[in-house]
Amino acid sequence: MHKNIAVIRGDGIGPEIVEQALNVLNRVAELYGHTFIYTDVDMGGCAIDKWGDPLPEAQLQKCLASDSVLLGAVGGPKWNDVPGHLRPEKGLLRLRAGMGVYSNNRPAKIWPQLADASPLKPSIVAEDIDFIIVRELIGGIYFGEHKTEKGTATDVLQYSEAEIERIGRIGFETAQKRGKKLCSVEKSNVLDSSRLWKKVMHRLAEEYPDVTLSDMLVDNCAMQIVKNPAQFDVIVTENMFGDILSDEASMITGSIGMIPSSSLGATACGLYEPIHGSAPDIAGKDMANPIGTILSAAMMLRYSFDMAAEADAIEKAVSAYLDAGYRTADIAGSGQTPVGCRACGQLIVNYLTKE
Ligand code: IPM
Ligand code: MG
Repeated sequence: MHKNIAVIRGDGIGPEIVEQALNVLNRVAELYGHTFIYTDVDMGGCAIDKWGDPLPEAQLQKCLASDSVLLGAVGGPKWNDVPGHLRPEKGLLRLRAGMGVYSNNRPAKIWPQLADASPLKPSIVAEDIDFIIVRELIGGIYFGEHKTEKGTATDVLQYSEAEIERIGRIGFETAQKRGKKLCSVEKSNVLDSSRLWKKVMHRLAEEYPDVTLSDMLVDNCAMQIVKNPAQFDVIVTENMFGDILSDEASMITGSIGMIPSSSLGATACGLYEPIHGSAPDIAGKDMANPIGTILSAAMMLRYSFDMAAEADAIEKAVSAYLDAGYRTADIAGSGQTPVGCRACGQLIVNYLTKE
């Protein structure tokens, strides 16, 4: 198959981790006879430096014309003082909205090889921790009106029934393909938008009788994720709650550097990115963990290109790499010499085989 992939290397460690993901994709192409064509897209701080805009329209258009987008990370202290509407993160938000990718899927799964890296007690980690956060990605407080006037700042949190329904359906469908348990997370004891959220989820539940729906307030959910994470199968929640809970969920798995994500809308053209940031402190030092990006590339193959065998092959190669005991600095134990970003990518390429 021929696929056009828009590649956003971005800032900080972005270029190094994306390079390794492309090496892995190239090996997959060789093994399975595909052709991946890459188009570089400028977004984030590097686009501000080059174009004065974190995502110029022409760059967004390249993404829209692609079969999917692979993104490293954007942002960094260099652009801390630029005005809000020009921040690197604004490029990312514009990209998500421009692509219409309303559904962000963030897995939280403990790799057995990395159980020691989890900050949770071994008795909690011993249980099967494997859940997915389905986060609404292009609505809510991120996209409501933002303004600061006469010393008062305002951010509007708004959701329509239609917006809630479409992400709700993704939550139910994701649960149907897994353990059939959906937990809807909101703050309905305080927020109108959450009361509407809860109402829509319960209306939808009638259409998915095979899925058990439960409700949880977001503050309680934050607690439950560290207390008893094995209870979760699929969590569906609004944009900002999902942002916060997915960082928490990633940390209990041991390293935020390992977690990929997919963002999809009405078409197969998705956005794939690790959930971590641009880590400017280690940028250019060949220290970053490229696995979150490599696994994001695997998700792209699985969800946008319908290449399940190829995605499995990447995940197996990552597992073989971990089995062999290699660790990048973020997860290396004390006394262990970590492998660098390039070596990690190369080892995973070497472990890739066609079943
Ligand atoms: C994430 C990030 C982004 C978000 C930032 C960089 C805008 O934290 O993808 O979780 O808040 O969505
Ligand atoms: Mg976040």
